[in-house]
Amino acid sequence: MVVKVGIDLGYGYVKVYPGEEKFRSSVYPHVSRYGIEEKKGIVTVDGETFEIGRARSVELRTKSFQGSAEWKALLLWALRNVTLPLKAVMGLPVSLSAKDMRKRIEEMLVGIHTPVIDGEVKEIKITEVKVVPQGMGVLYDYFIENGRLVKERTKENIVVIDIGFYTTDILVYRHGEILEDRCTSYEIGAGWLYEKIREELKAKYSYPSLSLKEVEEYFERGYFPYEGRRIYINKEEKIREFKNRLIKELRAHEEDLKLADTVLWAGGGSLLLGVPCVDKPEFANARGFFKFAGICFGG
Ligand SMILES: Nc1ncnc2c1ncn2[C@@H]1O[C@H](COP(=O)(O)OP(=O)(O)OP(=O)(O)O)[C@@H](O)[C@H]1O
Ligand SMILES: [Mg+2]
Repeated sequence: MVVKVGIDLGYGYVKVYPGEEKFRSSVYPHVSRYGIEEKKGIVTVDGETFEIGRARSVELRTKSFQGSAEWKALLLWALRNVTLPLKAVMGLPVSLSAKDMRKRIEEMLVGIHTPVIDGEVKEIKITEVKVVPQGMGVLYDYFIENGRLVKERTKENIVVIDIGFYTTDILVYRHGEILEDRCTSYEIGAGWLYEKIREELKAKYSYPSLSLKEVEEYFERGYFPYEGRRIYINKEEKIREFKNRLIKELRAHEEDLKLADTVLWAGGGSLLLGVPCVDKPEFANARGFFKFAGICFGG
């Protein structure tokens, strides 16, 4: 028996399909000066130990994150409960999806991994990996139904707008292919909005150690406490600011959007914006990767 999984290692959250597991993708060297709030677990890979949890702020990620030991720790943590050999489809940010990079990651992941997770050695056997550009998951999710490619849909012109935590990825699919030079990734997402509110609160109300998670919670309930009072957050205004920033970026895709038969809004951020998005948009990539695994690995 071999299991197939779709994994979306987002900057904000890791999503695993099937199972619909979702957790914050914060990972730091064990005993580091950075605060991990709500520590979830400890993973040792290749002799290095990391903590998985939830960071106090949006962590800036450099290009070298993908494929690094931290990244691997996060991935193996996501697979910690898979005891059977597995085949996985996963994504890389559009800007890092050159073929050689994808190949390198695929080769690196195939094999038997023995991370130490929360003090216990696990054996995770990966027999096959396929790495694709991130937004492709959303496309596959739209193209594949009941394990089959819906031919008519593959003939449409499609624009994927995936609004994540740290980035918004645009994928342009036209005449049956991805137009790589039209695909982009913008550094704006839900985390940008929270970080902005955090900075404002820090400055205006002297909350020097306010964490992102707290801001997220206060944002959801609509106010934050201040000396026993409630200071209300103008959510509509904040969301409008976010929307305006995004619309500005999308201007570069005016033609792509005009030519589109279908626009697929995905990513958790699209729920925040209230746009007409795909079903459970934060899982669209992972779900699409999983559907694609069924086709590309056969059986
Ligand atoms: N039910 C919901 N209502 C409103 N917003 C939501 C909901 N679920 C998720 N979100 C928003 O979506 C964000 C996460 O989106 P997502 O999981 O797509 O990001 P990501 O894939 O980790 O990031 P990136 O694509 O930048 O790497 C959350 O921070 C939250 O703001
Ligand atoms: Mg994402």
